[in-house]
Amino acid sequence: MAGSAAPGGEGWSSRWAFVLAAVGAAVGLGNIWRFPTLAGENGGGAFVLVYIACIILIGLPMVLSEILIGRHGRSDAFHSVVKVAEDSNVSRNWGIFGGIGILSAFLILTFYSVVAGWVLYYVGVMGSDFLGALFSGNPFAGALASENPETIPSRMTDLFGNIPLLLGMHTLFMVLTIWIVARGVTDGIEKAATYLMPTFFVLLVLITLYGAFTGEFAKALAFLFTPDFSKLTPSVMNDALGQALFSMSVASAALITYGGYVSKETRLAPTAGMIAFADTGVALLAGLMIFPIVFAVGLDAAAGPTLVFQSLPIAFHTMPAGSLVGLLFFVLIFFAALTSSISLLEGVVAWAMRRFEWGRAMTAWLFGGFVFLIGVACALSLNVWSDIRLLGFWPLFEEKNIFDTIDDFVSKILLPTTAFLTAVFIGWRADKKLVEAETGLDGALFAIYRFLIAWLAPVGVLLIFVFAVFPNLVGQG
Ligand code: PFF
Repeated sequence: MAGSAAPGGEGWSSRWAFVLAAVGAAVGLGNIWRFPTLAGENGGGAFVLVYIACIILIGLPMVLSEILIGRHGRSDAFHSVVKVAEDSNVSRNWGIFGGIGILSAFLILTFYSVVAGWVLYYVGVMGSDFLGALFSGNPFAGALASENPETIPSRMTDLFGNIPLLLGMHTLFMVLTIWIVARGVTDGIEKAATYLMPTFFVLLVLITLYGAFTGEFAKALAFLFTPDFSKLTPSVMNDALGQALFSMSVASAALITYGGYVSKETRLAPTAGMIAFADTGVALLAGLMIFPIVFAVGLDAAAGPTLVFQSLPIAFHTMPAGSLVGLLFFVLIFFAALTSSISLLEGVVAWAMRRFEWGRAMTAWLFGGFVFLIGVACALSLNVWSDIRLLGFWPLFEEKNIFDTIDDFVSKILLPTTAFLTAVFIGWRADKKLVEAETGLDGALFAIYRFLIAWLAPVGVLLIFVFAVFPNLVGQG
C-alpha cells in the first residue's frame, strides 16, 4: 500500500505499520514498570479495577478521538486540533489542549528516559553475565549465578549511588531517541516496531508462565484481581486514571501526531480497539509476571519504582537459561521503551517543526536536548538532589523529589486536564458529521462512542480530578 499524504510527505507504509507503531507507542515502561509499581503502591485489586474501567470507558474513546483529530488535521497535536476546530466553526483556542498534550509529552520524556536508563543498565549487567556464562561453557546458566538472591535487589541502590552510570545511561537513551526521530518517521519508527513488538510479547508470556509455575501465582492473582473497596480513595482513583491515560499514550500528543500519518482508508475504530487491547493485555501480564516473584521472595509490593527492577532479576536467577532469557528480556523492554520515547519526542518535534519552520534534525536535537537536561535533574533527584522539592508548597507534591514531582504533575494534573478538554471538544464542540465520518462508526456503535466521549469521559475525569486534587474543596481534607 502506498504511504498516505501527511505533513512533509511522510506516511506509514501500510495499515499494519501504523497499528504496530501505535501499539509500540502505547506499550512501554508504562506497562512493564509503571503499572506494577502503582498497582503495588495502591494495594492491588481496587486500583486495577478502576484502571480497567478507565481504559474501557475513557481511554478507548480517547484513543479513537485523538487518531481522528490527527487524521483530519494532518498535522501536529496543536495544529490538528485547530484544523478540526476551524472546520467545525468553533474557536481556534481549542488548540490549547493540543498544546498541553505536547507539554506533557515533553515532560514525560524527561523521567521516562531516566527509567529507560535503568533498563539499559540491566542490559549491561545481564549481557556481561551471559557472556561470562557462555565463556565458562555454561550458556544455559541462571542469571547472576554466583550471587545470592538476597543481594540481587541491592543492584538498584548501587545504580542510584553511581551518578556517572545513572547519567551515562540516561544520555545514551536520549541520544538514541533523538537520533531516530531526527531520521524521520517511516525510516526509524516503523522498522523498530515491526520486528520487536511481537517478539517482546512472546517473551513476556513465557516469563509469566515460568512465574506462574514457580512463584506465588495464586497470591498474585488474588492481589491484582480481588478488589478491597476500602482502599478506593480519590487519590488511588486519580492514580488509576492517570495510569490508564499514560499507558495508552493519550492526552500527550503522540496519537494525534501519529494519526496525522494515517491514510484515509484506514478504519480507525478497530485500530483503537487493538491498541487498547494490546496495551491492557501487556500491563496485566506484566503484573502477573512481577507479583508472583515479589511474593515468593518476600519483597514489599509497595516498594515503589524500583520494585520491577529488583524482582525480575531474581526470577532470572532461578530460571533455567535465566542468564540468556534475562538478557533478551531487558533488551526487549529497552526496545519497547524506545518505541514509546520516539513517539513522545515525535509529538514535540512535529509541532516545533511547523511552529518554527525548522528542519527535522535540528528540531529533534534541540528539543531532545532540553528534555535531556531536565532528565539530568530527574536522575540527580535519585541521588544528591533528593531533597529538592519543586512544588513543595503544594500539599499534593510536598514530599516529592524532582522525578516524582514531574511524573505526578503530568499524570495527576496535565493528562486528566487534556483528557477532559478533548472529550468536551469532540463530544460537544466538534462538528458531529465530521467526527462521525472520521470514526467510520454508525448506528449503535457511534451512539455508544458519543455517549462515552460526551458524557462519561468528561464527567468521570472531572469527578476523579476534583476529589483527588482539591480534597479540601469537597470536604475531604
Ligand atoms: N504509553 C507509554 C508507556 O506506557 O510506556 C508512554 C507514553 C508514550 C506516554 C507516548 C505518552 C505518550 F504520548
